[in-house]
Amino acid sequence: MTLTIDPDSTLGTLVNEVPARAGVFEEYGIDFCCGGSRTLRAASEAAGVSLPAVVQALEEAGSVGAGAAAEPQVAQSGWAAMEIGALAGHIIDVHHTYLKRAFPRIAELADKVVNAHGENHPEVLEVRSVFTHLREELEEHLQREERALFPWIQQLAAAVTVEDIGVAGVEGPISCMYSEHDDAAVALGTLRSLTRDFSPPADACPTFIAFYGALREMEADIHLHIHKENNLLFGKVLAREQRLVDAAEAAGTPSLQT
Ligand SMILES: [Fe+2]
Ligand SMILES: [Fe+2]
Repeated sequence: MTLTIDPDSTLGTLVNEVPARAGVFEEYGIDFCCGGSRTLRAASEAAGVSLPAVVQALEEAGSVGAGAAAEPQVAQSGWAAMEIGALAGHIIDVHHTYLKRAFPRIAELADKVVNAHGENHPEVLEVRSVFTHLREELEEHLQREERALFPWIQQLAAAVTVEDIGVAGVEGPISCMYSEHDDAAVALGTLRSLTRDFSPPADACPTFIAFYGALREMEADIHLHIHKENNLLFGKVLAREQRLVDAAEAAGTPSLQT
């Protein structure tokens, strides 16, 4: 079933409704993850693209069937409707696992391409350097989420009263995650620009083509990963914490430890 697109919907909402729309935003160079709170109208204007053309592409992608085809591994599990504990687990299973597998493979491809083509295509040295820095930053970021924030989210998901949370104030750690996501998005933009939209040169060998293809795939996965955290998980987490705090205050219970 095709859905009508409201240009004043936020990008985050549009992708949550139909995951296949992420592919349209990728195609038009519209940032839907860190910039997911913008309306489609504002984001199209900022990206310098035709709003009617984007709306048409979104409507064409906007069926339940199209979403399932674009992201078969998660379509059936319906991540947009998941509660916070399940969603945090889903993000680790799908996106953290993907990155842990992709990073060593891309690093190996980068080394091969630099060794074979660095002389004729010196830009690949910078591509490798930006990728290596992004990898280091994201590996630490994934650890922070898996060791601290996400276990706390699981605790929050299971909490019945505010006392079950233990420590209040998840806003600080979440704002730190937002900031690290912004840094990752900037690095991805640099990779896209250095590689001319991940287009290998005319004399590229299969390894070179595989390297840029892997970077493109990594970019799309990180965008969707950040979208799920920024525009879905974190908002639900903050709302749930607030509901528990409000319920405790209404009942006259002492506030959380800080
Ligand atoms: Fe994550
Ligand atoms: Fe994250």
